[in-house]
Amino acid sequence: MDTQTTVDEKPDLSQLEPIIGEYRGMKGAVIPVLQKAQKIYGYLPPEVLRRISAGLRVPLSRIYGVATFYSQFYLTRRGRHIVRQCDGTACHVRGAGKIVERMEQELGVSAGGTTPDYRVTCEVVYCLGSCGLAPVAVVDEQTIGKLAPEKMSAILKGLE
Ligand code: FES
Repeated sequence: MDTQTTVDEKPDLSQLEPIIGEYRGMKGAVIPVLQKAQKIYGYLPPEVLRRISAGLRVPLSRIYGVATFYSQFYLTRRGRHIVRQCDGTACHVRGAGKIVERMEQELGVSAGGTTPDYRVTCEVVYCLGSCGLAPVAVVDEQTIGKLAPEKMSAILKGLE
């Protein structure tokens, strides 16, 4: 289970040591170490990036370069739940715009944002590869098709 940090808590860097130890001196270590670190912390806080840089003996600028280049890495803290609503063409013509609006209203944040209590991060994406189920969202890895604004509201209310 992931042990994500709570608000204002400093990340426990000791969890990084076995990962750094496993990859130190290996070519191409940066990406897998960042992936594993993100799995532990939920994102990549500055302290974690500094520790990885020192541990792998790779300049911090390079670590940041990789972390900012790939969209899979997050430098800011994310919500406990991730809701990705598709607004690609197939979903858009079936009313995804209204679902996005409802999602933003319900959470009180714009798409791309995270609720202040870190409960939910909401995103808009442009095709989830399930156009036949449009409009579609992915909620914590679960694909949910044939959505409507009311259904999105109910889903969001159910996220602890
Ligand atoms: S456009 Fe929404 S899943 Fe493809």
